[in-house]
Amino acid sequence: MHRELAVGTRVSVAGPRNAFPFAGEPRVLLIAGGIGITPVLPMAYEAAWRGLDWRLVHAGRTRASLPFAAELDRLARQHPGRIEILADDEHGGCPDAAALLARAPEDAAVYACGPAPMLDALQGALPQSPAAALHFERFTAAPIVDGKPFTLRLRDGRELPVPADQSALEVLRAAEPATAYSCQQGFCGVCKVRVRSGAVDHRDRKLTDAQRAAGEMLVCVSRADEGGCLELDV
Ligand code: FES
Repeated sequence: MHRELAVGTRVSVAGPRNAFPFAGEPRVLLIAGGIGITPVLPMAYEAAWRGLDWRLVHAGRTRASLPFAAELDRLARQHPGRIEILADDEHGGCPDAAALLARAPEDAAVYACGPAPMLDALQGALPQSPAAALHFERFTAAPIVDGKPFTLRLRDGRELPVPADQSALEVLRAAEPATAYSCQQGFCGVCKVRVRSGAVDHRDRKLTDAQRAAGEMLVCVSRADEGGCLELDV
């Protein structure tokens, strides 16, 4: 924006988007790892305001390194027994996912934000826990699951092989550095391109059936079947 926009340039602006909404279930356990407290703290305020049965656990390496410590401390004094700080250096290491989920009230909804290993461990431990559902937000793109190699063909005829462990966006950006993207998780829609031919394996959470039928694709997460070729309008 600093380089390209000048006074008078027309830009399109949309309202904020939220890929991690709080549904306000009657019983909730909020789990934050480090800076993952950012979306979780307003959920705690809302849970308190709605009078829900809520708990919040904030985990991190050291107590001094935890962001929003003073605010959490104030909230904890207003709502005794609902907020727990787990610093690795005070508890002899990272908290165990099963132990974290054991804090959930029966049938609670769990909201978690933190590093990928923590979220993966929570997902794995959920079935054996008292909680009923897990909602989470990742900091970065999720690992590619069951990716197969395929090819992108650009308008100028260039063919770009996409390896099994890379996204179409990564490959496209290597060839076209100005390719737009934001979330890299298939929910913002910024990386949308039009596919002129080829069968897309849609893996996003954003496009409607009509958009998919019209040939739209979110290249940060969606792919093609093994050996397939997607001809892009790029
Ligand atoms: S970058 Fe957000 S949907 Fe692809």
